[in-house]
Amino acid sequence: MQVIKSIDALRAALKPLARQGKTIGLVPTMGALHDGHGALIKESVKDCDVTVVSVFLNPIQFGKNEDLDKYPKRLEADAKLAESIGADFVFAPSVAEMYPEGDPLTLVRDEALECMYCGAYRPGHFRGVLTVVSKLFLISGADHAYFGEKDYQQVFLIERMVRDLNFDIKIHRVKIVREASGLALSSRNEYLNELERKQALSISEGLKTAKDLFEKGERRVALLRDCVIKSILANRGQVQYVEVVNQKDLQKFAGALPADAKVVILVAAFFGKTRLIDNIELN
Ligand code: PAF
Repeated sequence: MQVIKSIDALRAALKPLARQGKTIGLVPTMGALHDGHGALIKESVKDCDVTVVSVFLNPIQFGKNEDLDKYPKRLEADAKLAESIGADFVFAPSVAEMYPEGDPLTLVRDEALECMYCGAYRPGHFRGVLTVVSKLFLISGADHAYFGEKDYQQVFLIERMVRDLNFDIKIHRVKIVREASGLALSSRNEYLNELERKQALSISEGLKTAKDLFEKGERRVALLRDCVIKSILANRGQVQYVEVVNQKDLQKFAGALPADAKVVILVAAFFGKTRLIDNIELN
């Protein structure tokens, strides 16, 4: 496996492989890889001839008071993990390589959803994500790209962007990977102290309770939402949002859910200073 830091070198490595008819899979990450990323890499290795894992902590998707500076960085360990799963390349460009002229003037944005849910609390975040993901698609020329469903709004917006802008790439969603405790894997879990880590289980527990209620026939949106909120508040979490939304268009449901509704509950909450997101689909 090769670690490549320049765009030209990555293109020089991948273009001949593409010309030979090899399929290229891309797993975009910001590093600090865990088993959730491992699941994405595994899928790509299974589907594609060549797997590229990008490790790039993208500054333009972080707000001024967010955790860009303290985000864990460990390229060597990331490269080892990627290699152990079968990746062929790790693409780890510098900020200057990706944004040689400073912050880009051309941005990719979603007019409708970038200000909702996570976007409402992280202004500019999704513009930064869609812009860097577009750049990674164009740089790699990948045929397939893999994203985790923990970032539900992110993968939804990326799928929509691919359709809107006719990117020639297939997006694969990979299910959330959870610890045995139920905590969804996230690089940000490293910020939690022991107590916060226990308290944070209230997110997945609340979501599980909502799912159980749904499966028993509960269709009142307020009730499904409240059981998640109560679980978090009872464990000293601070709820940012809990919304019951349509999987198809991410629009909120109100009142009672329609009989055939495909629903996802989206959550963001703080435990101490750590912001976590999670979700659960109810079908
Ligand atoms: O999900 C992430 O890690 C990032 O948002 C992504 C998709 C790698 C873009 O920087």
